[in-house]
Amino acid sequence: MMSSFNVQGRKTLPARGQPWSELQEALSDLRSGDADWRQGRGSLHVYYAGEDVLDVARRAYGMFISENALAPTMFPSLRKMQDDLVQISLSLLGGGRDACGTVTSGGSESVMLAVRSAYRAFRARRPHVRSPHLLLPASAHPAYDQAAEVMGLDVIRVAIGGDYRASVEALAQCIEHETMMIVASAPSMPFGTIDPVEELARVARERDVWLHVDACIGGFLAPHVARFMTGVPRFDLGIAGVRSLSADLHKFGYAANGASVVLYADTEDQAHQFFEYSDWPKGLYRTETLSGTLPGGAVAAAWAVMHYLGETGYRALAQRVMHLRDRYIEGIGRIRGLHVLGAPHLSVIAFGSDEFDIHSVGDAMQARGWHISRLLNPAALHMTVTPVHDQGVEAYLEDLERCAQRCY
Ligand SMILES: Cc1ncc(COP(=O)(O)O)c(C=O)c1O
Repeated sequence: MMSSFNVQGRKTLPARGQPWSELQEALSDLRSGDADWRQGRGSLHVYYAGEDVLDVARRAYGMFISENALAPTMFPSLRKMQDDLVQISLSLLGGGRDACGTVTSGGSESVMLAVRSAYRAFRARRPHVRSPHLLLPASAHPAYDQAAEVMGLDVIRVAIGGDYRASVEALAQCIEHETMMIVASAPSMPFGTIDPVEELARVARERDVWLHVDACIGGFLAPHVARFMTGVPRFDLGIAGVRSLSADLHKFGYAANGASVVLYADTEDQAHQFFEYSDWPKGLYRTETLSGTLPGGAVAAAWAVMHYLGETGYRALAQRVMHLRDRYIEGIGRIRGLHVLGAPHLSVIAFGSDEFDIHSVGDAMQARGWHISRLLNPAALHMTVTPVHDQGVEAYLEDLERCAQRCY
């Protein structure tokens, strides 16, 4: 495919349109350097449950590719799908009679909305506080820092415990009059451990602070895992003191990218989330989320995948994921010099070494075609195990052993 450039060397719009056959070829060429995730060679970012699930998502997305969920009166179909997604999420994640929620474009948006709601609720009660802050365990996702930056809030990160979980004591000690929100992860992205939500919720109640549970990773995995495994700590909206919870449909819900939910234990808290503006020529503009347009395709794909898989489908996938996770943990544990950090509750694992430089192992793995995710502090390699890893687990462990032994 020919590209044309202007005098500044900038790529220009092609003079004439090109046929799909050429574009398809060009797109295939473009992706030739991407991570080979279908062979289980990726370590995060892709949540693939099989060609059949992808096909359902693709078809549903295609059916609603032009529709916009910003306009519920024009597209009642999308309103109904969003309601269904929220209701299903609440029934999986412990919402009581007053619970409610919103479909968003992803984990970061869900987090930002929860922060905005918590901020507005805080402001209503303590209007004179100069610098409200968020109190985070050190392992919380940077989406909170991004939200704080946009909203002009401060963030205090608190050291986690030796078990790689939030320290209830340390967080409790840091709560002040200016603390507008504390956060627990379920699980944390770096270590895969679920923070002690029940204990944190008790502290949140006693100290009158908003507790948000970030279940972006675990929200659509843990409820299914809990059906066949013990030892998954509770983190649901039914715990008194949990005010909001985020869960990503596009992670272990296996939906197309661009779908998450933010849930609230109480509709009064959700009311803080909405944005309305009237002082412009067109009158009332209202959005429930941070974005305007919400892609209809992403909503329809999430709705279709949830109904396609159902409880049995999700449970079978959860069993596969946990079985694979155990295989990785066991395999890593057998390799001399390597150890898994903490006791991961779900499918995110991190592992390091006291005997050699773990990042050199990562470099060697990368040279063998593995896409490696790393932690810097503490130094570790990291991965989110998904169903596609049954393609790569044995080859990964063999290569890992070879690369690790060479680093002695
Ligand atoms: C715990 C947690 N929270 C929030 C996010 C942000 O989600 P997204 O990338 O969908 O915006 C992630 C992403 O991995 C995450 O792991």
